[in-house]
Amino acid sequence: MIQLQDITKSFDTLRVLRGISLDVRQGEVVSIVGPSGAGKTTLLQIMGTLDRPDTGTVVIDGTSVQQMQERELAAFRNRHIGFVFQFHQLLPEFTALENVMIPALIAGQTQQEARKMARSMLSLMNLDERAAHKPNELSGGEKQRVAVARALINRPSVVLADEPSGSLDMHNKEELHRLFFDLRDKLGQTFVIVTHDEKLAGLTDRTIHLVDGLIVEEKPLFETDVRS
Ligand SMILES: Nc1ncnc2c1ncn2[C@@H]1O[C@H](COP(=O)(O)OP(=O)(O)OP(=O)(O)O)[C@@H](O)[C@H]1O
Ligand SMILES: [Mg+2]
Repeated sequence: MIQLQDITKSFDTLRVLRGISLDVRQGEVVSIVGPSGAGKTTLLQIMGTLDRPDTGTVVIDGTSVQQMQERELAAFRNRHIGFVFQFHQLLPEFTALENVMIPALIAGQTQQEARKMARSMLSLMNLDERAAHKPNELSGGEKQRVAVARALINRPSVVLADEPSGSLDMHNKEELHRLFFDLRDKLGQTFVIVTHDEKLAGLTDRTIHLVDGLIVEEKPLFETDVRS
């Protein structure tokens, strides 16, 4: 699904990624954790072709992306990768339905087809009733679920999420996390999620610990309790 090989990235003299290799399989939910400044967002941006590594290779869905020009890359991204950010980044002047439709329209669907797809995505998120509302008329949790619907509408190979529940309260956080696993179970959707939430990381299939631009040994999630 995604193969990263020996990725390095520096900003001026700051070496942010120092040799990252990582394989993400179809249907996997992978979390990336680590201290602030470790390079998590940089890594996710490179995985999502929003940024280019200095060295190393990125292969997504069997396609090597480094040779692609910007236009080609944008089209590839539109079809293969869905993004969810910490702050939904919905367009304020459009309704929930229209926001979800946009990537489908960019992919060349007709208005009618895009509308139909967007409705079914919103329905999957339990947002049928909210389709006609603009972002400022939605709760934080609802906005984030609209953002997930938008990320999914073109049925991307992978959804990349950068602290998707970072701005949500406990209840909405848990609901969003449940949704990710639901989507994996129902659609076989692959997720890579950067998170500071230990509970979410604990639920994922695999946790990548990033420290100072390197992947460090994974810690066992549960220590064996010797007393039982
Ligand atoms: N465009 C840029 N130009 C210069 N430095 C950058 C740029 N983007 C990131 N950095 C620096 O690279 C380092 C890693 O940043 P990154 O955003 O990947 O960290 P992070 O692990 O996502 O942290 P956080 O948990 O705080 O979001 C930081 O020191 C940051 O200041
Ligand atoms: Mg970050």
